[in-house]
Amino acid sequence: MIINTELEYKGNLFPSNVISCHKEVDSFYFVTANKVILKLTIVADNILRFHYANTGQFEADFSYAINKNASRGFDSLKMEEDSHFYIINTAKLSCHISKMDLRNKIYDRLDGTLINQDELGYHWEESYEFGGDIVKMTKTSMDGECYYGLGDKPTHLNLKGKCFENWATDSYSFGKETDPIYKAIPFYIGLHDYKAYGIFFDNTYKTFFDFCFERRNVTSFWAQGGDMNYYFIYGPKMNKVIANYTNLTGTPELPPMWSLGYHQSKWSYYPESRLMEIANKFRQLQIPCDALYLDIDYMDGFKCFTWNKSYFPDLKCMVAEMETEGFKIVAIIDPGIKIEDSYSIFNEGLKNDYFCKRADGPYMKGKVWPGDCYFPDFTNPKVRTWWSGLFKELVEEIGIRGIWNDMNEPAVMEVPNKSFPNDVRHDYDGNPCSHRKAHNVYGMQMARATYEGVKKFTYPKRPFVITRAAYSGTQRYTSTWTGDNVASWEHLSIANIQVQRMSMSGFSFVGSDIGGFAERTDGELFTRWIQLGVFHPFCRTHSSGDHGDQEPWSFDGEITLIVRKFIELRYQLLPYLYSAFWHYTNNKTPIIKPLVLFDQEDIQTHYRTDEFVFGDKILVCPIIEANAKGRRMYFPRGNWFNYWNNEKFEGGKESWVEADLDTMPIFILEGAVIPKYPIQQFVGELPITELTLALYYKNGKEESVVYEDAHDGYEYNKGKYSLTTFTLIGKDKELILQRHQVGHFDTIQQSFKLEVHGLPFDIKTIQLDREKLSLKVLKKGFVNEIIVPNTFTELHILGK
Ligand code: GLC
Repeated sequence: MIINTELEYKGNLFPSNVISCHKEVDSFYFVTANKVILKLTIVADNILRFHYANTGQFEADFSYAINKNASRGFDSLKMEEDSHFYIINTAKLSCHISKMDLRNKIYDRLDGTLINQDELGYHWEESYEFGGDIVKMTKTSMDGECYYGLGDKPTHLNLKGKCFENWATDSYSFGKETDPIYKAIPFYIGLHDYKAYGIFFDNTYKTFFDFCFERRNVTSFWAQGGDMNYYFIYGPKMNKVIANYTNLTGTPELPPMWSLGYHQSKWSYYPESRLMEIANKFRQLQIPCDALYLDIDYMDGFKCFTWNKSYFPDLKCMVAEMETEGFKIVAIIDPGIKIEDSYSIFNEGLKNDYFCKRADGPYMKGKVWPGDCYFPDFTNPKVRTWWSGLFKELVEEIGIRGIWNDMNEPAVMEVPNKSFPNDVRHDYDGNPCSHRKAHNVYGMQMARATYEGVKKFTYPKRPFVITRAAYSGTQRYTSTWTGDNVASWEHLSIANIQVQRMSMSGFSFVGSDIGGFAERTDGELFTRWIQLGVFHPFCRTHSSGDHGDQEPWSFDGEITLIVRKFIELRYQLLPYLYSAFWHYTNNKTPIIKPLVLFDQEDIQTHYRTDEFVFGDKILVCPIIEANAKGRRMYFPRGNWFNYWNNEKFEGGKESWVEADLDTMPIFILEGAVIPKYPIQQFVGELPITELTLALYYKNGKEESVVYEDAHDGYEYNKGKYSLTTFTLIGKDKELILQRHQVGHFDTIQQSFKLEVHGLPFDIKTIQLDREKLSLKVLKKGFVNEIIVPNTFTELHILGK
């Protein structure tokens, strides 16, 4: 790794004094005597973009990360100047640019807190090896500042004191602290004085981030090429920082609900009879499951878009049969296209000049599963269109419902750098460049092309895609998993952190290989992993297959029952998860919230890593050690009910929680209304005529939102959805539930079944929209016999 000190002595260049400043639309241009330009764009009142050019002009402004439909605009903008600074004021920020050296300081406009300031600020070094510049930024780290984000880094949630590299890398059996691994997400969040801001360094070259690693009070980031081009996003709430970053880089559309069910995978299930056997076993043991995976062995000689006819003589027929049993089939597609004269995809690619080439002209040849391959240049829009079209047979004709993109860092075998050499050329959507610039977006552009194809051929249903490599913005097209982990307790804890970190980095649809990919898991580890996995937005068991079986029944009978109980819990919570997904797509709120995101005002949360909030009302803390009977965990402020026994826990402190192997610490925020489905073996198995609402008493008020639609298709875009706000108001002797619904979803639901938890009084009467309701049992604590029509407006439970 190149570290900053090494570079510092090689001859850094700095902007000199500002000689002119002018404004064009929403941007200010500051020009220095040595021809550096800073273009400062006001993206929103709380978002500033800093873009520097060294040569007196900017190159084409092109970004794969930024979502073209991102909302922008600000309420107020004024510039003043004094003898030392240009001062740009928006409704939220005050940005001071030094006339002497272009360094900036950014203040909270409302209370004057200094949020972020350049230390050396922008500087650069000429890149003798490649041309262009190595662009660098150093900032002062504030007292007690903590750092979060940066995608899939397998390290402590708080990044302080560490240094990282972003270069998508195939990382079989990576370890804690391995860096870099599969993803390159150059976005971090800083938190000090209880205020949060984010920095998104939109540069696809190899980038580096140093959070007080080399120098105690300095944070820096730099890239091996391209421009210093970063967005400063102010909160002060971390939730707002993440929502704004996610707005800039985009969210996916709502996924089909089946993709939120349980997925079972292995490298590989074949032949057809084996896959059928797995499917039957799920149904026989009544373990819910929605998706089964075809890993590379389904192909003919690992050639993409072919299949092995002796393993799967009639793929279409098998897929159809699986559908009738409620299973969707997801198939893997890698980027490497086998070099073989008689292979039509190879020939098409060759004929149309779709494959990547080396700088001197020959094709980029590399070994992957099929042997020697060429690789489509997914940064070429023509290639993406071609690739999208290739899914017609698999998706439209055969009925495969999801595509799994793997090895797209891109991974190349038997070469020391595990990928393409730097000189490989790419189109980069009409901005030709070398692999140094395109590497980190290669996987993203592959997933994008795949998504477009799957979407087209699945329509009017919703597509499902999963990728291994990603750059910022990839979440618009696909879900992801954390790559080739290991069946170890340490990896269970890494998976927990990685999913939280990805969530904070704008990418919520994520999960890990449950049970571990490499090496052998045991029943206890598998159980603890399933317990965590059912709370991850993407929930899939996957393993390399060379260390025994890893299905829910592969251990002993007791394990199977526990695993089933937790997968059932996931299926019960599907309407809650789906609503959280709606919040994510609509409000850009992460589905998983690390405690620091849930309550940044509580300093205790700043270093917590194990506990997280699933959605906005369920607190989860996985057991990540063997032989545990329970654990200590931190409860964020508020009161929490133990999901298993309704015991109440006061937040703002640590407590011991019992958790034998058949249970795990799960808590519900008081005042919550949790929607639940009956247990189904797959999404859509049962007509849901009644929705259970679990109400958790609170002396006070709390809102919960439930989103529903047809679970697939696009009718929701035409208003066919239902968005219900439930307001729970608890008093000493009364609990009120108000329902307010918008949208026009024709639901078959007729009633709600209410479960009331933690009621502190005996019930005297229940009134529904002013009518008295008759009740069989009136008692304190837990009540579950209240069934009400789904049209009610207000329910009163009155105490004695
Ligand atoms: C890679 C993937 C893994 C897959 C294997 C074979 O290692 O990460 O999930 O099973 O390739 O396709």
